[in-house]
Amino acid sequence: MKVLLVNGSPHPHGCTYTALEEVAKALNTEGIDTQIFQIGTEPISGCIACKTCAKKGRCNFDDCVNDFMDLAQGADGFIFGSPVHYAASSGAITSFMDRAFYSDSNAGRKSFYLKPAAAVVSARRAGTTSAFDQINKYFTIAEMPVISSQYWNIVHGTVPEDVKKDLEGLQTMRVLGRNMAWFLKCKEAGIKAGIPFPLKEPKVRTNFIQ
Ligand SMILES: Cc1cc2nc3c(=O)[nH]c(=O)nc-3n(C[C@H](O)[C@H](O)[C@H](O)COP(=O)(O)O)c2cc1C
Repeated sequence: MKVLLVNGSPHPHGCTYTALEEVAKALNTEGIDTQIFQIGTEPISGCIACKTCAKKGRCNFDDCVNDFMDLAQGADGFIFGSPVHYAASSGAITSFMDRAFYSDSNAGRKSFYLKPAAAVVSARRAGTTSAFDQINKYFTIAEMPVISSQYWNIVHGTVPEDVKKDLEGLQTMRVLGRNMAWFLKCKEAGIKAGIPFPLKEPKVRTNFIQ
């Protein structure tokens, strides 16, 4: 089994990465493979609502979002990490997640369906819980079981050396990794035991006019 960890920071080995690495180590100790996916520093467009994804099965912008989606189909779990930028998740990870989740849903691929997920955020000082809430909303519209830890998944720092001193933050990351590993093993055991996936209803879509 494999968990994909997305680093939504422009720093490939910064604070968010340091937190993700701690989660990955705990997953590896439990026998789960991991891959850290860097969204990098190239500009990432937001979704332009062109709906090309519904026709082509991929986002119209052929960048790191499509690279990630190719890997996502084979992944068993996800961690999305972001630095806090102005009390929110970074603009880049927001654009990335908008397009990843929207294109996957429009393409009918179900790359995220019933796969466990967690958000991890890093900040110097403030805005962590609002960024954490923001990322969790992608999971709960995509039928993803959200894995939690013993505190909200937060580390503090301006540079990785600060994060390494945030002992509570690092422990939160290790507990998160072990909790995700436990869930993945339970899911695998359940599937092997013949527990079927939940019944799906045809989707009802209403708005406030109808
Ligand atoms: C544009 C920008 C906005 C930021 N806004 C905040 C903020 O609102 N609150 C905060 O505590 N830190 C803020 N920071 C600091 C980063 O969140 C923090 O240093 C983080 O741990 C960096 O993680 P990284 O090394 O993975 O990029 C901001 C940094 C940048 C570049």
